[in-house]
Amino acid sequence: MSLQIRSRAVKPCIARLIATSSTQHPSTAYTHLSRTHGSATHATPTDLTASQRHALESALRVDQAGEIAANYIYKGQLAILGRDKELGPLIQDMWDQEKKHLAVMDKLQLQHNVRPTVLSEIAKVAGFGLGAVTALMGKEAAMACTEAVETVIGEHYDDQLKELDSFASKHPSLPLLKGIIREFRDDELEHLDIAVDHFSQRAPAHALLSSVVGGGCKIAIELCKRI
Ligand SMILES: [Fe+2]
Ligand SMILES: [Fe+2]
Repeated sequence: MSLQIRSRAVKPCIARLIATSSTQHPSTAYTHLSRTHGSATHATPTDLTASQRHALESALRVDQAGEIAANYIYKGQLAILGRDKELGPLIQDMWDQEKKHLAVMDKLQLQHNVRPTVLSEIAKVAGFGLGAVTALMGKEAAMACTEAVETVIGEHYDDQLKELDSFASKHPSLPLLKGIIREFRDDELEHLDIAVDHFSQRAPAHALLSSVVGGGCKIAIELCKRI
């Protein structure tokens, strides 16, 4: 079952997300400074194999870069569509969630001693350009961009969860990390749903736009894992 079909079956909306108490989310371990979680939020596992360590570092490097790009995509969309009465607030809500995702990924990157990608600045420019250009093509094209990006990111987070499940380490940071990735994956699928609900699939040349944007995201993910 594709991620899109799964997310559509849940049929969530951003209002429910806002209504849900944020204290229920694993990410609050990093966003609510009053909470202490000991080594879960302040240490990295030392009992990983070399390949598991490499996988953990690649995952966090690409997640941080992806959240940077997502922030700039929504920033670019908002620069063009910010005055749209319907889409402006929706894009702002999604951007606000991406700001939280990035803040948490920044903390995870430091906690696990992961080098950021050297492509961070490129991710900002490319993200802003993608968001702004697709928004200039029209509201449906902007939503098609969101649909394509969030589909790839949702699948990417799902793949990471499967990989982390194979780790034998009992370090408390790992279940917390999985909870956060699960939370963020669900947020990205909410964004995907919002895009489809706002007629992403009516965009001109939707299939072409989706494959270009989605393909670009997949290439960026592979690059950021490595450099
Ligand atoms: Fe995100
Ligand atoms: Fe997102």
